[in-house]
Amino acid sequence: MKPQELRDAVDKRRTFAIISHPDAGKTTITEQLLLFGGVIREAGTVKGRKSSHFAKSDWMAIEKQRGISVTSSVLQFEYAGKQINILDTPGHEDFSEDTYRTLMAVDAAVMVIDSAKGIEAQTKKLFKVVKQRGIPIFTFMNKLDRDGREPLDLIAELEDLLGIEGYAMNWPMGMGKGLAGLYDRVDHRIELYRENEAGERYLPLDENGRLAPSEPLANDSIYTDTLDSIELLNDAGNQFNLKKVMSGDQTPVFFGSALTNFGVETFLKHFVEMAPAPGPHRLQDGRALSPTDPNFSGFVFKIQANMNPNHRDRIAFVRIGAGEFERGMDVTLARTGKVLRLNNSTEFMADTREQVQTAVAGDIVGLYDTGNFQIGDSIYAGKDPVEYEKLPQFTPELFMRVTPKNVMKQKSFHKGMQQLVQEGAVQLYRTYTTNDYILGAVGQLQFEVFKFRMQNEYNSEVVMTPIGSRVARWIDPEQLDEKMSSTRNLLVKDVHGDPLFLFENQYAQRWFADKYPEVKLTAKL
Ligand code: G4P
Repeated sequence: MKPQELRDAVDKRRTFAIISHPDAGKTTITEQLLLFGGVIREAGTVKGRKSSHFAKSDWMAIEKQRGISVTSSVLQFEYAGKQINILDTPGHEDFSEDTYRTLMAVDAAVMVIDSAKGIEAQTKKLFKVVKQRGIPIFTFMNKLDRDGREPLDLIAELEDLLGIEGYAMNWPMGMGKGLAGLYDRVDHRIELYRENEAGERYLPLDENGRLAPSEPLANDSIYTDTLDSIELLNDAGNQFNLKKVMSGDQTPVFFGSALTNFGVETFLKHFVEMAPAPGPHRLQDGRALSPTDPNFSGFVFKIQANMNPNHRDRIAFVRIGAGEFERGMDVTLARTGKVLRLNNSTEFMADTREQVQTAVAGDIVGLYDTGNFQIGDSIYAGKDPVEYEKLPQFTPELFMRVTPKNVMKQKSFHKGMQQLVQEGAVQLYRTYTTNDYILGAVGQLQFEVFKFRMQNEYNSEVVMTPIGSRVARWIDPEQLDEKMSSTRNLLVKDVHGDPLFLFENQYAQRWFADKYPEVKLTAKL
C-alpha cells in the first residue's frame, strides 16, 4: 500500500467498544448498528443467548440467529464511508479480564445506559478503565419508550457518579407512552417518534431553535416544556467542548430507544463524525508510534481458547497499531525475538463475510495460536523492534484456593498453572506463610475456563475452593509487617513477589486503615 493509501485507510477506521451493564440494551443497539451497516436486513430480539452456559458472547448468538459470519469478537461494517470496528466486551457471566483488556484496543467507547436505571455497577467498572485511557466516551441513554428517570437527573448522575461532564446532543420530548420525539440541539430539528414509521420524521427548527408557529406541535405543552428544558440547558448546562470530548472529560449524550430503533441512527451519524481515527500508540520506551508507520506492528490484547476439546487451537487477537497487515508476512515476537510466519492457515481477518479486506492500523486480526503468544505481546515486521506499552494489571475481585486433585500429578498441575497464568487467563497469588495457591479473577468465567483447560489441555484435575469476593490492596514491602495479617486480611504475594492483602470487605479495609494510618494501600486499575 502506498503511504497515501495507508493514510486514507487508517483515517477511515473507527474502532470502539460498547460498555454497559447487562440488560441495558447493548445487544439490541448492536443489532441496529449492523442494520444500518447493511450487515443484517432485519432486527429482532436475539433469543436464547443467555441460556447456554458458555455462551461466550451475545454476538455468537447474533451470528447463529442471523446466519451471518462474524467472529465472536469483532464486528466490522461500513457506514458513511467509514470502516467501523465494534469490539465485543462480554458481560453477564462472561465478564472477565479480557473484557477490560479489550478496552485497551479501542479508540473510543460507547456507554449504553438504561434510562430507567441510570448508571449501574458494571458500567461504572468499565468506565473507570476507559477513563484512565483518556479516550472519548459517547453516551446513549436507552429505553426512552419506557418511563424512566428525569433526563436532567441522568445527566447530573454522569458528573456525580462518574466525574464526567455530560453534554446533551438531543433532548427527549416526553417518555414512555408519552414519548413524542427528540429535540435535536445539533441538527436543529425535531425527530418525531413514530412507532409505525409512517409520515414525516423530522420537523425543522429555525435559527432560534423554534418550530414554525403553523406547526400543530408548536402549541402542544410537550413542546413548550421541552423549550423550557432546552433553555435551562443552554443557560446552566455544560458548554459543548470538543477538546474535552476527545480527552474523555466530556461525554456527548444521545437519547433514544434501541428496541424501537429511535434515535439510533442519529447517534451513529454523529458518533462516526466525531469519534477519532486511530492515533499514535505509546511504546514501552516512551516513544509514540504513528499509525501510518509503514511497518506493520500490533499487540495481543486477548487470547481466546477453544472450549471444544476437538479443537485445541487458541486465537490471539491483535490490535494493529501501525502499518498494514499482509497474509503470510513474517513478524517478530518482541518478547522472545522469535520470527513467526503468519501463513494463510494461521490467520483470519476480522471480516470473513465478503472478500478479504485489507487490515490496517485500527483493525483487529485474529491469529490461530499454538502457544506462541501471551497477552500483551507485541509483534512487528521490519528490522526496528517495536514494543507496545504494557497492558495494565487489573484488581481481581473474586478468589479461589486451588490444589491438584491427584497429588501424584504435581508436575502437570504446575505446568498448566504456569502457562495459564502467563497467558493471562487468571491471576495467581501465594499465601505468605503456607505458600498455598490462590487464584484471582474479575469474573467467575475465568475460574471455569481455568478448571476446564487444566483438565483438557494439561490433564490436571483441580480442586477449587471459593474464598469469595475480597478487596485486594497492595502494600509497600517497606511498610509490611507480617503480623498485620489476620483472617480478615489475608497476606499474599503476586507473581512478581509484591505483597498485598485480601480484605474480607471494605469494613475490614477501613479497620486496617484506622489501625495503621501510616500504611499506604494501593489498587491496580
Ligand atoms: P444487553 O445486551 O445489554 O444485555 O441487553 P439486550 O440488548 O439484550 O436488552 C435487554 C432487554 O432490554 C431485552 O429484553 C431488550 O429487548 C430490551 N431492550 C433493549 N433496548 C430497549 C429499548 O429501547 N426499549 C425497551 N423497552 N426495551 C429494550 P428481552 O428481550 O425481554 O430480554 P430479556 O429481558 O428476556 O433478557
